[in-house]
Amino acid sequence: MDTYEELARTVKINSKNRLVDYDDSLLHIGTGRSAFVFQIKSTRKAMKVFFPKLTYIAKEEAEIYEELKDIEYFPSIFASGANFIVMDYIEGSTLFECINKGKLITPVHITEIDRALSLASARGLNPSDIHLKNIIITTYGKIKIIDVARFRQKKDCRQWNNLKKAYRQFYCKRFFPKKIPAALLNGIAWLYKKGWIPSYTLR
Ligand SMILES: Nc1ncnc2c1ncn2[C@@H]1O[C@H](COP(=O)(O)OP(=O)(O)OP(=O)(O)O)[C@@H](O)[C@H]1O
Ligand SMILES: [Mg+2]
Repeated sequence: MDTYEELARTVKINSKNRLVDYDDSLLHIGTGRSAFVFQIKSTRKAMKVFFPKLTYIAKEEAEIYEELKDIEYFPSIFASGANFIVMDYIEGSTLFECINKGKLITPVHITEIDRALSLASARGLNPSDIHLKNIIITTYGKIKIIDVARFRQKKDCRQWNNLKKAYRQFYCKRFFPKKIPAALLNGIAWLYKKGWIPSYTLR
């Protein structure tokens, strides 16, 4: 495959946002509410290809990654096109996967995430959409934040503050289970998004 454009064109997504086909040199590693993410095999690069109706996010996210350039907590970006971006492939586990697999999240990780977010704020951005699947603990124990498309939004996002509160109130307690099934975690996230968890308000 000669160019990233050609590679991105092999990714076929239907009108129901189902992934239909993609080139053999891509390994599907993640799915979000706006895109499919692939590792470009035998490289340290990841390609994020947006759903047909959300392709405009590619430009926005690429610009924000440029603004975050050289902050170690964010992947570097290498290329972008009409419906895709190419960035560092981050090897590790999202916080969601950590909780699912029983991999411990330490207070040091939490402090590092705070530091990452304040560095982004110091560049005039408004870190938003900070949820368990957008934070990765790398194989070397470092923190990386991905999915920065909403960092320019104006409204106040309480998600990270709520996650920290839950970390202190529940996760840190000795008898709280450190391994929770994905279905239960998704259920809690669903209730949270509905605003049905008292004292964990969305705004
Ligand atoms: N650079 C990367 N390296 C490794 N894995 C990644 C990378 N980018 C994304 N992923 C994986 O793909 C998943 C989906 O990516 P991403 O969060 O960027 O998509 P999205 O559609 O914007 O998500 P959301 O639903 O949060 O809006 C992530 O949760 C993560 O597991
Ligand atoms: Mg995401």
